[in-house]
Amino acid sequence: MKQSEALLTLPTKTPAQASMKALVYHGPGRRSWEEKPRPTVRDATDAVVRVTTATICGTDLHILKGDVPTVSDGRILGHEGIGVVEETGAAVAGFKRGDRVLISCITSCGKCDFCKKGMYSHCRGGGWVLGHKIDGTQAEYVRIPHADTSLYRLPPGVDEEALVMLSDIFPTGFECGVLNGQVKPGDTVAIVGAGPIGLATLLTAQFYSPAELVMVDLDPNRLAVARTLGATQLVDGRDGKAVDKVMELSAGAGVDVAIEAVGIPSTFDVCQKIVAPGGRIANVGVHGKPVSLELERLWAHNITLTTRLVDTVSTPMLLKLVQSGRLQPQKLVTHRFGLGDVMRAYDVFGNAAREQALKVVLKSA
Ligand SMILES: NC(=O)c1ccc[n+]([C@@H]2O[C@H](COP(=O)([O-])OP(=O)(O)OC[C@H]3O[C@@H](n4cnc5c(N)ncnc54)[C@H](O)[C@@H]3O)[C@@H](O)[C@H]2O)c1
Ligand SMILES: [Zn+2]
Ligand SMILES: [Zn+2]
Repeated sequence: MKQSEALLTLPTKTPAQASMKALVYHGPGRRSWEEKPRPTVRDATDAVVRVTTATICGTDLHILKGDVPTVSDGRILGHEGIGVVEETGAAVAGFKRGDRVLISCITSCGKCDFCKKGMYSHCRGGGWVLGHKIDGTQAEYVRIPHADTSLYRLPPGVDEEALVMLSDIFPTGFECGVLNGQVKPGDTVAIVGAGPIGLATLLTAQFYSPAELVMVDLDPNRLAVARTLGATQLVDGRDGKAVDKVMELSAGAGVDVAIEAVGIPSTFDVCQKIVAPGGRIANVGVHGKPVSLELERLWAHNITLTTRLVDTVSTPMLLKLVQSGRLQPQKLVTHRFGLGDVMRAYDVFGNAAREQALKVVLKSA
């Protein structure tokens, strides 16, 4: 036998890839907590993060219903989380092993034309990919592409439970609702939908001292929570009279800002009926069905209509406000589970009205 042949027949010694546990999507209605290979650095700009805190988003429930066909069988879910950097690629300059980090739900390269405009949601090499097009955060470890621009250092001394709310819901409520709605001192603001996003909008709208904050929902428990978080007026829409009630509260004038935080045609309709002349409609909800825009009436009303996919450009500012105690996102946490109990956490979050759930936090042991 020639020497080269002998070499070829030698058994190749690759170390067995370490495994981890993760919440895996297996098509509509099917999820399991199972063994998966532990991620490793693939590109030089990657970091691998050991997840210490994660949470579940309404969007994860949409995925499980089969509403997001771009999620494939075998995908690890989750786009919100906090963890400790385990490993970094050669090109990562801002983070090193051992750093505690917040994971943004939006991955951004920081270099493409959209990133340069601050529109990270449309990053050509990122956007919303975690728990969608690549494996996500509801796992013991996660690979984060473009780590330098997609991770944020945690301020010292702040609870992870508060900070994990900054992965998605607080930037979403603030950017898509408050900033796009141009909430100003003295404004009358109506927020339609008192879920985690609507409530994050309610808390961040108060940075601008609106005169009235009207909260519209169908769930009396969520409306009661909204009251404790600063809503000045509550509208229970179960009788189908939300529009009349908001018009009455505003003495027939309508509201300066109507924020849609549900994502269905009827709530968009409420917004277009309650917006005052000169007002703004800020759509936050993810819509799966067409809505009918009453342009035949609104054309003369000088209104502004905005839409947005969250960019998470406000994350550094929100981190400062949480650190100072000015913003307290932990107020939205209603349930806590170990990461290994994520299956049960989904059952609770999936029955939010019955369980009186807002955000469920998952913590690693
Ligand atoms: N634009 C973005 O980037 C972005 C990011 C994240 C989430 N979202 C979307 O924001 C929306 C809200 O998210 P969430 O997690 O708070 O959802 P959620 O389902 O927890 O909350 C929605 C709330 O709307 C209420 N509601 C339902 N029908 C209503 C009606 N007819 N009138 C009044 N209230 C009604 C429900 O009782 C619930 O409290 C969703 O559509 C979500 O997909 C958008
Ligand atoms: Zn989300
Ligand atoms: Zn980019």
